[in-house]
Amino acid sequence: MKRQLEHACVFGLGWGDEGKGKVVDLLCPGFDVVVRYNGGANAGHTVCAGGETFKLHLLPTGVLHENAVGVIGPGVVVDPLALIAEIDQLAARGIDVVPRLRVSDRAHVVLAYHKIEDQLSEKAAGEAGKIGTTSRGIGPCYADKMRRTPAVRMADLMDERDLAPRIRALVEAKQAAFRAVYGTDGGLAFDAVMSDVQTARSRISGVVCDTTAYLHEAMDSGRSLLFEGANGLLLDVDHGTYPFVTSSSTGPNGIGPGAGVPPTVVRRLIGVCKAYSTRVGSGPFVTELKDAVGDRIRERGKEYGTTTGRPRRCGWFDAVACRYSARIGGATDIALLHLDTLSEFEEIGVCVAYRCEGITLRTLPASLSQLEACQPVIEFLPGWSGDLSGVRHFAELPTNAREYIERIEALVGVPVSIAGVGPDRSQTLVRGELQRIVTPPEPVGSRE
Ligand code: IMP
Repeated sequence: MKRQLEHACVFGLGWGDEGKGKVVDLLCPGFDVVVRYNGGANAGHTVCAGGETFKLHLLPTGVLHENAVGVIGPGVVVDPLALIAEIDQLAARGIDVVPRLRVSDRAHVVLAYHKIEDQLSEKAAGEAGKIGTTSRGIGPCYADKMRRTPAVRMADLMDERDLAPRIRALVEAKQAAFRAVYGTDGGLAFDAVMSDVQTARSRISGVVCDTTAYLHEAMDSGRSLLFEGANGLLLDVDHGTYPFVTSSSTGPNGIGPGAGVPPTVVRRLIGVCKAYSTRVGSGPFVTELKDAVGDRIRERGKEYGTTTGRPRRCGWFDAVACRYSARIGGATDIALLHLDTLSEFEEIGVCVAYRCEGITLRTLPASLSQLEACQPVIEFLPGWSGDLSGVRHFAELPTNAREYIERIEALVGVPVSIAGVGPDRSQTLVRGELQRIVTPPEPVGSRE
């Protein structure tokens, strides 16, 4: 019998890579449907289940649970080749997700020209100006969506009438635009795009449907939904560190447009962050540690990107940024992961305010140059020693670790209901009401 009654959302409070996959994996057994509503194949979730490691970018991580139906909503930009590769990756390990997968016919399609444009524009911007994207074509696809006329949705792919001439016209327009702006068409060829389109049609037609209607019917019949936010709130196109953001609404604010479900139905909003901060790609990062302490966090936390393999920039926990994200996302709970990574540090820094041009700031300024000029006001707390990996209850944590959590709760204003002490699912401490929807730990785990 299901213990879950409310619909919930798991979302990132930082710049992605917070460990959302692990939290979704933990909560999933209590839900019937897991829903992606934003982003695309830029998300990187490493999920360890049953002793195996799975790297997912586009599929909702919850599909690894056989009880769950996975939905990719209208707000996601879907690269059909990436989707097929993930379906095949799971099939090779005996997991057939196809019968449990639904992809919105309203979702926009990432095609080769989006990925080419992503790379050309980053190259043209140069080291200083580039966003440091994942090269997955996310920004160009969302730009086409907003521009409306050159866009292709899943429903269009499924309708063969006029498809080839339409794609040909699109490719020719993109080739001309790329040559004009970048001096090259980047190797874009109609035949290659058309071949991708045909592959998509033959392989995924069966999973494309009206997911909005599906989700409403699921809710009407009493089934519970778990929304998986991709990326993180500091990468949100409206609220993040613009322009060093992704092109979607990454927090629960994306559920309405991205899934076609009113956000009011989602009552439990679990914001995920690490006990320190990380960022991949370019952009301001006030608490970044470009020193041996930052290197030590990276090595202890194995902070290398799932999607691109890039070393992640590391720094102290930024309570200013976390509070900002938690407020925008309406977090009811915090999942604070990687607490074990901070063991053996003599003292641990927490950023409690920013100093900028002689002024103390307690929230993120919109201006990029102002944010880049901000210096962190760091409060140091005593560290703790010892291996936390065997701890299973909050009460068993060393006193200093508990006080560290309490300080974060006070600064952010949201209770820490989940704490991570290792990559394994069993290495997750849960307290309060969330215990109700978490199944007893099994010897499987995940980390994002
Ligand atoms: P894009 O989403 O590929 O356009 O990349 C825009 C920015 O968001 C870059 O700095 C990426 O590194 C970052 N980004 C996008 N998705 C993720 C994620 O899931 N984790 C971490 N960073 C991400």
